[in-house]
Amino acid sequence: MLEIKNLDVFHSYIHALKDLSFTVKEGELVAVLGANGAGKSTLLGTIAGLYRPAKGEIIYRDEDISKCSAERIVRKGISLIPENREIFGTLSVRDNLLLGAFHRYRKDKTTIQKDLKEILEIFPALKGREKDLAGSLSGGLQQMLAIGRGLMTNPRLLLLDEPSIGLAPLVVKEIMSILVRLKASGVTIILVEQNTQSALKVADSALIIERGRIAHMGNSSEVIADSSIREAYLGRVCL
Ligand SMILES: Nc1ncnc2c1ncn2[C@@H]1O[C@H](COP(=O)(O)OP(=O)(O)OP(=O)(O)O)[C@@H](O)[C@H]1O
Ligand SMILES: [Mg+2]
Repeated sequence: MLEIKNLDVFHSYIHALKDLSFTVKEGELVAVLGANGAGKSTLLGTIAGLYRPAKGEIIYRDEDISKCSAERIVRKGISLIPENREIFGTLSVRDNLLLGAFHRYRKDKTTIQKDLKEILEIFPALKGREKDLAGSLSGGLQQMLAIGRGLMTNPRLLLLDEPSIGLAPLVVKEIMSILVRLKASGVTIILVEQNTQSALKVADSALIIERGRIAHMGNSSEVIADSSIREAYLGRVCL
């Protein structure tokens, strides 16, 4: 469903992504791993239309979207949940969720109410908190709200940038199991994580980026089993 071909991305003079090529199959959960500054967020931001590639193509469902605006990309079914979550703390939980459906608000009002209900089924911890200010939620609930808002765009492809950052292990586990359920419902997921262990457990495949280039791409079980890959690119993580 997604094919990245020879992608080059710069942040002014910094060459953040260098000749990156890979494919993601429909319904797959891909973990994107790598050290700080490797280019993981740049990759997600470029797919989402926030950064314009200097070279290369991003083929999404047979169409090159590399020159589309971020807004058009959302309409095509790609949703980015950024690292800093970008929750509106002074708005209610419900309004934050509704903002995710802003682009279809006029023509889709009844479906939006239905979707809102569904999101609260996916994240029962947010039930009963709809009227609370988003800023009053715990970090874990804010992350769930950020994912919920992303889901309100009705995505086919979900891009998550380090959802586990700053969260307690139990909450991370809960979020990972929600991702597995979303995948089972047909959503394709690209998950950027520094929490290698949690990400590899739920992912089908893993893409390791090192200084803007692909260092390794393969089944996550292969990465889990291969201590030389882990030691070379991921530090001495125990799996
Ligand atoms: N907006 C920006 N302006 C200038 N340079 C940037 C910008 N965003 C990222 N960079 C640089 O591009 C490179 C890749 O950064 P990126 O944020 O994509 O890495 P990352 O793998 O997400 O890192 P982290 O694990 O710290 O989130 C780094 O050298 C970073 O300093
Ligand atoms: Mg990042």
